[in-house]
Amino acid sequence: MYDWDELIKECSNCIKCNLGKLRTNIVIERGNRKAPLMLIGEGPGEQEDLQGIPFVGPAGKLLDLLLKALMIKEDQYYIANIVKCRPPSNRVPTDDEAQVCMDYLRNQVFLIKPKIIVCLGATAMKYIIDRNEKITKIRGQWIERKGYWIMPVFHPAALLRDESKKLLMWEDFKKVKQRLDDICQSQMN
Ligand code: URA
Repeated sequence: MYDWDELIKECSNCIKCNLGKLRTNIVIERGNRKAPLMLIGEGPGEQEDLQGIPFVGPAGKLLDLLLKALMIKEDQYYIANIVKCRPPSNRVPTDDEAQVCMDYLRNQVFLIKPKIIVCLGATAMKYIIDRNEKITKIRGQWIERKGYWIMPVFHPAALLRDESKKLLMWEDFKKVKQRLDDICQSQMN
């Protein structure tokens, strides 16, 4: 495992898969490295590739609104993706691309040691929880694994395509907020 400086350096020079040769910027992280809550998406889109920051495009704006509405503070979360370079035309990362990049994500999880991990969408669910599950089936359910509380939810981009998912996403994130508050409370006692 690398420390933060080594990890950022490795990622920045990475050309382990073809995505590395296509990127404008590597997209590694946003948020507090000491946060109790880690949010994991699929991979950078156009805006993320241009700015080098995860979830700054339309889906990210919606995610920020949701977190704000739930009063989850910026210093309480850290955001990353399964892959750190933008797949062409925002296609889903291939298995090979995801697998090579997962080493970096595991390293991030190891350094952050979040209490809660939220998988944003089917790709994050596939590589973090179970490759054979369906997001529509297991979203909103807690999974306890290796000391982490893990929750799969819809990807915010899915809410932009289908408004009817917004209420379900709200319900799921309320559970995340509740657990986050419980954890923060128990750390104060
Ligand atoms: N979608 C993702 O999965 N990640 C981002 O960073 C942006 C959009």
